[in-house]
Amino acid sequence: TSSALDYTVADLSLAEFGRKEIRLAEHEMPGLMALRHEYGEAQPLAGARISGSLHMTIQTAVLIETLVALGAEVRWASCNVFSTQDHAAAAVVVGPNGTVENPSGVPVFAWKGETLDEYWWCTEQMLTWPAGRQPNMILDDGGDATLLVHKGTEYEKTGVVPEASDDDSEEWKVVLGLLRKTLGKWTAVGAGVLGVTEETTTGVLRLNQMADAGELLFPAINVNDSVTKSKFDNKYGIRHSLVDGINRGTDVLIGGKVAVVCGYGDVGKGSADSLRGQGARVIVTEIDPICALQAQMDGYQVATLESVLEIADLVITTTGNFNIVMVDHMAKMKHQAILGNVGHFDNEIDMAGLAKYPGVKLVNIKPQVDEWVFPDGHSIIVLSEGRLLNLGNATGHPSFVMSNSFSNQTIAQIELFTKNSQYERQVYRLPKELDEKVAKIHVEALGGELTVLTKAQAEYIGVDVNGPYKPEHYRY
Ligand code: NAI
Repeated sequence: TSSALDYTVADLSLAEFGRKEIRLAEHEMPGLMALRHEYGEAQPLAGARISGSLHMTIQTAVLIETLVALGAEVRWASCNVFSTQDHAAAAVVVGPNGTVENPSGVPVFAWKGETLDEYWWCTEQMLTWPAGRQPNMILDDGGDATLLVHKGTEYEKTGVVPEASDDDSEEWKVVLGLLRKTLGKWTAVGAGVLGVTEETTTGVLRLNQMADAGELLFPAINVNDSVTKSKFDNKYGIRHSLVDGINRGTDVLIGGKVAVVCGYGDVGKGSADSLRGQGARVIVTEIDPICALQAQMDGYQVATLESVLEIADLVITTTGNFNIVMVDHMAKMKHQAILGNVGHFDNEIDMAGLAKYPGVKLVNIKPQVDEWVFPDGHSIIVLSEGRLLNLGNATGHPSFVMSNSFSNQTIAQIELFTKNSQYERQVYRLPKELDEKVAKIHVEALGGELTVLTKAQAEYIGVDVNGPYKPEHYRY
């Protein structure tokens, strides 16, 4: 019954505000609404018990309610300690037909500003279904849910969770502590999961590593590398939400400033465009000569971080790699230079090194904005403690672009759940037909008119009139 709904959110009374914004977002998410229309009657997700770990925003609320509309039962947590929008979380718990007194929506375990202990507790709760039931699907962003199930299963084989070493991150120590407390539950969870659909570059990297090592417990669909995901969300989404986060965090004029963007992949391209759009002079750092050359063709200087640190007013990391901006870099940055990250994890910026730097002082300006004062008197401003600043300082990517990403998520959930026996313990991408279908819905929603191939033209270029229009290796 609804009164038995278990959840932990900041404040259920925010649900009405959340519901209003969900209503506006639904109009901006035509892909998800089209899927509700197409599959609402068939209920392809009936019987699916989806445990989801993805930023608990308004856009994600529309995703969750789409999964429910297609028949799924859902439990949710955020995949970042700062990314939850508390009104979205409240509205999802209350549900479209519930009340604050009698919520009847989806159990959500997420609030803005979780500690690491709370974050991993939420992840555990999201994977723990009541009445001895188990999830049978995971929807992941960055791979933390998948990691918990896999590490738990691995350690249950020997019955021992390894001791943390001094070199381990604070977060890994928290994970090990949680696994020690919960050892015994994870093998059953892993055995029940039919598959995972993964949202982001960093999570896909982890999945590929597990698949290569033969350690993947269930099949996975890489949603990130649908063209209508990474070439849109990662790029145009960040083009919107990066400057949004910087503005809400600092209100510093970006025009005329020097901004260094580390990494020129999809997120880096959108970040550089975003900063240039505000009039910044953008400098790019890259390890990959192809991406470096792309940056140059787009008109950006390519340099090493070391050679431009001292003129940078802003430094933004987008690499999905670790140890990009170290404390020795920060010590040389300009007074009140702004440092932020939009890669998935906080280890792009050496926050641990910064906290340990001799004589450094922390002055909190407001939530998710910290001034770190060095002993020589100069300071730097760090956004969202080095975590995704577009979600920590602002509200992440806007609905329309997330409609593309989440349409792929929904299609991937349907695919893995309904055709599970066709998938091995590997990492798959969705077929191009579905990518083109997601794009078509959004082209039309924006009032675009597609040109239709004649039969002769289709034969001439060797494609079907109805697509797919490009070979698999085409790069867009
Ligand atoms: P990508 O692989 O397309 O781009 C990363 C780029 O960083 C690559 O071109 C790589 O050569 C470069 N790189 C790696 N190490 C470097 C180093 N030491 N110095 C300079 N450049 C380096 O990946 P994508 O899709 O751009 O994603 C980047 C990160 O952003 C991932 O962690 C991803 O999960 C995350 N992401 C964040 C979003 C957000 O809303 N903030 C949205 C989508 C993805």
